[in-house]
Amino acid sequence: MSKVVYMDHPLIKHKITMLRKESTGTNEFRKLVEEIAMLMGYEALADIPTRDVEIRTPIEDTVQPVIDGKKMAIVPILRAGLGMVNGMLALVPTAKVGHIGMFRDHESHLPHTYYCKLPPLIEERLIVVVDPMLATGGSLIDAVDEIKIRKGKNIKCMCIIAAPEGIKAFTEKHPDVPLYIGAVDRCLNENAYICPGLGDAGDRIFGTK
Ligand code: PRP
Ligand code: URA
Repeated sequence: MSKVVYMDHPLIKHKITMLRKESTGTNEFRKLVEEIAMLMGYEALADIPTRDVEIRTPIEDTVQPVIDGKKMAIVPILRAGLGMVNGMLALVPTAKVGHIGMFRDHESHLPHTYYCKLPPLIEERLIVVVDPMLATGGSLIDAVDEIKIRKGKNIKCMCIIAAPEGIKAFTEKHPDVPLYIGAVDRCLNENAYICPGLGDAGDRIFGTK
């Protein structure tokens, strides 16, 4: 059964609105993507396991919870997913980072994978796949396929803006993978861009085009 979590926090909504604006320049865009990733990550990691450790406060010895940061992998889909990595690392600095390189063919809109490197012991890790845009869903579907082929099991995905078409396609293909979404938009246009969306996330983060 698919779990799709929609962000409801006013801070996330506000920052996504700023992100969408055509007048938002590269520098501010990058900052916003990082901040939104951190706020969404806070929600997406609400159920991660903790273990108890013994510590000493200035007052006494005590047993308190810590997260198992060593067992986490953040996996951005290149290029645009890179913009979300630092926001996640601000939350879990000990997480490892993998990379999946994909681009969409401009004619067919189908994804092509050109790179995949995941941290060791991927089967033991909580894997958080990050990509700002979920349009047709093809890229995220294939990225999760790549991770599953490499024995990754405990996977979550975080996308800032999604089209209904992409959510449907992804949840049908990977019903076991929870999806965390910042905003759901109206539809895709004839070029498979999200409407109203924010344009090309990779180009806006890296100042290309
Ligand atoms: C964008 C985006 C996603 C993908 C979403 O990447 O970052 O990876 O498109 O589209 P889909 O759901 O229809 O597959 P793009 O292919 O433009 O590559 P880039 O990040 O290198 O610009
Ligand atoms: N990729 C993007 O960067 N933007 C879209 O709207 C769709 C795919």
